[in-house]
Amino acid sequence: MKTQVAIIGGGPSGLLLSQLLHTRGIDSVVLERKTKDYVLGRIRAGVLEQGLVRLLEEAGCATRLHAEGIAHDGTLISYGEEMFRVNFTEHTGKPVMVYGQTEVTRDLYEAREKAGGKIEFNAEDVVIHDGDTDAPYVTYVVEGQKRRLACDFIAGCDGFHGVSRQAIPLEVRREYEKVYPFGWLGILSKTPPVNHELIYANSPRGFALCSMRNENLSRYYIQCSLSDKPEDWTDEAFWQELKRRIPAEQAAKLVTGPSIEKSIAPLRSFVTEPMRWGRLFLCGDAAHIVPPTGAKGLNTAASDVNYLYNGLCDFYENNSTDGIDAYSQKALARVWKTERFSWWFSSLMHTYPDQSAFDLKMQTAEIEFLRTNKAAQQAMAENYVGLPY
Ligand code: FAD
Ligand code: DHB
Repeated sequence: MKTQVAIIGGGPSGLLLSQLLHTRGIDSVVLERKTKDYVLGRIRAGVLEQGLVRLLEEAGCATRLHAEGIAHDGTLISYGEEMFRVNFTEHTGKPVMVYGQTEVTRDLYEAREKAGGKIEFNAEDVVIHDGDTDAPYVTYVVEGQKRRLACDFIAGCDGFHGVSRQAIPLEVRREYEKVYPFGWLGILSKTPPVNHELIYANSPRGFALCSMRNENLSRYYIQCSLSDKPEDWTDEAFWQELKRRIPAEQAAKLVTGPSIEKSIAPLRSFVTEPMRWGRLFLCGDAAHIVPPTGAKGLNTAASDVNYLYNGLCDFYENNSTDGIDAYSQKALARVWKTERFSWWFSSLMHTYPDQSAFDLKMQTAEIEFLRTNKAAQQAMAENYVGLPY
């Protein structure tokens, strides 16, 4: 089989890239290790920047997003019983959109299917060959049969545990990592959200986040120990702990109910450089991870896709390699700023096991500065709604 762009990974990055390329008549094949149901079963991000919304519009996949997504003009931040709001639209003129990653992925799958796009599910043992030559190819196994996909370019959109990043030789690759000493325990419940905007809560018992998917579907997270297992936490224990971490007035309003999903995610900051090796380009979690505070994972994946998509269009439409040659540098410049924001917001909101009394005072002083200082709120709002592409 032959295609123009071989895309490894059928998560949001791979699907969005494939659909965008299709709108410009560029052919691609997506190789996904799991089944569609498995990919759609993962509950992940929930807040979309305008940049991603625009890309979904360009991909022709934004009808349901505009009908069902909820625009948020600001967010609440609490510490102890204190709470204040950071207004996004006042500072940046832009809101964010609350619409789940699961729904984005579902819409992209639907569009790919409608367009007759080729997606190989259950693609095992994916191997990249000759990535640094002008004739790269990918081999993989489906139902026990080995297949070969020849292509012009390979997009490595296979997430943090994929094979694409590992295909870049160690002499070329440099990795930067910070692992945080806690995780997030998240639940999804068919209950109305406690508040119409998100609440990021700093409390002496640890961080909590009140989020949502729609008016009858809530997503809540609490900072937990890395040794905790989801099954250690009954629904009742989760709700009790969440109530202790948010202001009493909010806790009193919280509607609880059975969880329909419960999982723990570790927190990590990670970047690999460069994001290109020969004809192989890394996008999204394959190249970088942010801690989830601030909802930047999916959005940063989308900004990579934007740069690569434009670079590939430039190559096929104008016979120019300028866009793809600048890809790694352009993508990384934005990635590092997003890494900084996610690290900063995580540091501000979590309780650290080795936090001294001085560290705690610094954290409180920084939150109070943010509460009272317009410039600090402006900086936070600009980062939260998404830095320009
Ligand atoms: P992925 O979504 O990881 O997709 C990669 C795809 O590649 C997967 O479908 C995988 O099955 C496939 N794949 C992997 N290896 C191979 C292979 N060898 N061959 C073929 N296919 C392969 N972000 C937020 O903003 N907010 C959140 O609340 C949030 N929660 C998260 C919770 C968890 C548990 C995780 C892991 C991430 C979370 N993120 C969150 C981050 C966000 O979901 C990711 O940034 C986003 O999914 C990145 O999309 P992607 O397509 O680059 O990677
Ligand atoms: C969600 C996750 C986040 O990490 C965040 O900062 C905001 C919202 C969510 O899953 O809804």
